Amino acid sequence: MTHRAVIVGTGHYTPDGILTNADLERIVDTSDEWIVSRTGIRERRIRANGEATSDFVVSAAREALEKSGKQPADLEAIIVGTVTPDYRLPSTACVVQQKLDAPKAAVLDIAAACAGFIYGLALGKALVEAGMYRTILVAGAEALTSITNYEDRNTCVLFGDGCGCAIVARSENGDRDRGILAAHISGDGRLGDLLNMPIGGSKVPLTPENYHERGHLLHMDGREVFKHAVREMADSCLQSLAQAGLSVEDIDLIIPHQANIRIIDALAKKLHADRDKVFVNIQRYGNTSSASVPIALNEAMRMGIIKPGMRVLMTAFGGGFAWGSAIVRF
Ligand code: UT7
Repeated sequence: MTHRAVIVGTGHYTPDGILTNADLERIVDTSDEWIVSRTGIRERRIRANGEATSDFVVSAAREALEKSGKQPADLEAIIVGTVTPDYRLPSTACVVQQKLDAPKAAVLDIAAACAGFIYGLALGKALVEAGMYRTILVAGAEALTSITNYEDRNTCVLFGDGCGCAIVARSENGDRDRGILAAHISGDGRLGDLLNMPIGGSKVPLTPENYHERGHLLHMDGREVFKHAVREMADSCLQSLAQAGLSVEDIDLIIPHQANIRIIDALAKKLHADRDKVFVNIQRYGNTSSASVPIALNEAMRMGIIKPGMRVLMTAFGGGFAWGSAIVRF
């Protein structure tokens, strides 16, 4: 028997520190006017010294658990999408498990960059539907400022820190209309060089000699990434819509990855979606990679924008390349 996977609670956390465009004007050769007109970003959140990705997850998870009426001990799996783990070993999910005191949970990090939360949701859906688990924490969490190159104006104006998460659980009432209706994930490893961190892994370890190259920090060919992002997110959304037997008119809210306001506008246009149905918070957080969709999801929840019965389409695209989409009925 196939079970139905539903989202029973969401949460998010962003650190208190704020880095404004005016602050960045003092760090690199840029301007508020350029950043706002080219990206839509006005400020982003930055972590305090010593604050780690796992701390973000724990704060966001507490909100999601409370809203879902679950305890940490109920969690049977913890899935964390992140490219900024606390350590290379153990996984951030392990650290979260210990900090939350969720002793039974299986622990897994997903390295799908900005698509990490959507990948986690797709996996969580599959695990619940297969009957393997009843309650799973899926988080997208990044301390992106820890891998941002503040000497590179092409990228440093874009990124911020934070976490969003969802509790994915087996539907207990057999309701066939609610839940994660569809999920689609895909990738293209041939284009990995366009958005990467070439130094610091097993192929080229970080050494005192190559440190100055800054290859252990994020590098991106923004213009190329832009084109692929619009195309693949639109395609993925259509795949999820087809899977669910829906059209874009059936969707009440679209939550796209918050990487660039122009990407969001282009995506809405390509999908022929009503722009008023597209949720945007990029102006306050910048690009938080895997955290961007679930932060937006929980903000929309807190603001009362998402009401029972609504269908929400989420989509993300990032390094790898890896991308995906999911449709959830609340
Ligand atoms: O989250 C994962 C997925 N990531 C994305 O989806 C990001 C996709 N890419 C983008 O959002 C955009 O490509 C960027 C925002 C990164 C860049 O915008 P763009 O319109 O593609 O600019 P560009 O890279 O083509 O650069 C245009 C000009 C260049 O000057 P020249 O060569 O024309 O003289 C850049 O040097 O803007 C210059 N520039 C800047 N100027 C002021 C680049 N960064 C800055 C800056 N301030 N911060």
